[in-house]
Amino acid sequence: MNLGVLVSGRGSNLQALIDAVESGKLKARISLVISDRDGVLAIDRCRRHGINYRVIKRKDFESKSYFERAMAESLKESGVELLILAGFMRVLSEEFIRAFPMRIINIHPSLIPAFQGLRAQKQAIDYGAKLTGCTVHFVTEELDNGPVIVQACVPVLPKDTEESLSERILAYEHRILPQAVKWICEGRIRIEGRNVVVESAKYGTLPVNPALEDF
Ligand code: GRF
Repeated sequence: MNLGVLVSGRGSNLQALIDAVESGKLKARISLVISDRDGVLAIDRCRRHGINYRVIKRKDFESKSYFERAMAESLKESGVELLILAGFMRVLSEEFIRAFPMRIINIHPSLIPAFQGLRAQKQAIDYGAKLTGCTVHFVTEELDNGPVIVQACVPVLPKDTEESLSERILAYEHRILPQAVKWICEGRIRIEGRNVVVESAKYGTLPVNPALEDF
């Protein structure tokens, strides 16, 4: 399967996908990476691994619609079949999303529907949540709220800062994102309304139950 990845910055999730492809765990090809910013680490990662990339900046276009059309054209030219938002910091329009129906996925650093939007890790700390995590979901017109493919749970510890919690969550992002892509590539995913069913996935009890002592 031909993958497209949209990024805006560090690209550590992109790196997790690159590693999964290079190790042979993920049988797919990263056909195109688009960054909406110059000089970001994600681009260095593409160069280092010989991955085709383009920088397409919003400010070079008269409108959001022209900007998105340029992205969609590049992705279609590269034969992209599945589009992965990996730290892409822009909200896509309905028109763009409709051009790739149920073919766009996003990684978000919370257990959605909790803590949608920006700085989800800080939101979890400020709220006093004891568990949070990360989610890979299909992108629909509702921001950060399409059908959930996979989630991982992470404890919020008493002394956590936004940075320490983000780091703990990120380690799981790097596992669930390639996992979700693999399931899609293997054709093991069925969408029933809001419910995503994964054929023969392992489900089990949570490894993280910080509040439970002797009960
Ligand atoms: C990740 O925390 C991701 O969940 C969020 O943006 C961050 C991107 O990190 N959407 P990176 O660029 O993949 O390192």
